[in-house]
Amino acid sequence: MGATLDITGKTRVFGCIADPIDHVRAPMVFNPIFEARGIDAVMVPVHVAPDRLETAIAGLKAQLNFGGMAVTVPHKLRLMELCDEVGRQGRLVGAVNAVKFDAGRRMIGDNFDGAGFVAGMRAEGHEVTGRAVLQLGAGGAGRAIAFALADAGVSRLVIHNRTRSKAEELAAAVASAYPAVPVSVGDADPDGCDIVINTTSSGLHDGDPLPIDGGLLRSDLLIAEIIMIPERTKLLDVALEKGCKIQYGRHMLDHQITLIGEFLGCLSA
Ligand SMILES: NC(=O)c1ccc[n+]([C@@H]2O[C@H](COP(=O)([O-])OP(=O)(O)OC[C@H]3O[C@@H](n4cnc5c(N)ncnc54)[C@H](OP(=O)(O)O)[C@@H]3O)[C@@H](O)[C@H]2O)c1
Repeated sequence: MGATLDITGKTRVFGCIADPIDHVRAPMVFNPIFEARGIDAVMVPVHVAPDRLETAIAGLKAQLNFGGMAVTVPHKLRLMELCDEVGRQGRLVGAVNAVKFDAGRRMIGDNFDGAGFVAGMRAEGHEVTGRAVLQLGAGGAGRAIAFALADAGVSRLVIHNRTRSKAEELAAAVASAYPAVPVSVGDADPDGCDIVINTTSSGLHDGDPLPIDGGLLRSDLLIAEIIMIPERTKLLDVALEKGCKIQYGRHMLDHQITLIGEFLGCLSA
């Protein structure tokens, strides 16, 4: 039963919605999984401009064999507002990256960015529960990761961001949602922390500054990246030179795929 070559009237249809669409990776990840596992499903790219989103969703709701979709830029915020129900992480983050339709065609969304990061850490043997974490960055991905770290029960979360006001806003939101977790805004200094996570985009391009002074890295620290390309960022190079353990950015995506697949219910035959 091939996902892409053997579509029948019984094939379940899933999507990946975006605008622009050319770069989306979810169909290239999910369809080989369907094929390898003999799952009668297909994931197609769904190209929708922001001003036609509501029309497109109405159509997808009416399409009874359409099970749900991975959601990417620029639809993550607006789609959350269109959902009939949103999971806790989606509500906290204020954006969804997957939506599914239930038997009554209600649209249910959630956000798996942060949970994917935490699952990726655990899969590599790096527990976050009970650890003190310095998080660099308070952008979209950082927001999801901060809530997921608090949800996982870190012993302390320090958020540093180039634009301090964004770190303050995120720290306040996390503290309000997880009052038992000590959350603060701080410098890019890992003193007293066990784990440093780079959620900034600094490191994507040659010549980007390090998001933290390399001289502050100690050999007992774990340094985690979420940047996927390059795989070995300058930060990870410095971390390895200092004898730190490291975590590559790709694990966050790998584990998100599993979580999104389970949420959509498309990973079993
Ligand atoms: N592995 C995965 O599955 C995954 C998933 C999502 C995203 N990502 C990666 O995560 C990174 C961030 O994505 P995003 O969506 O969160 O982006 P975003 O919302 O644009 O946020 C960018 C963050 O990086 C900071 N930043 C940018 N340039 C900086 C510099 N030169 N020095 C210090 N801080 C800098 C920004 O600080 P300001 O607030 O001061 O601008 C902000 O905190 C990207 O590299 C993306 O590829 C990976």
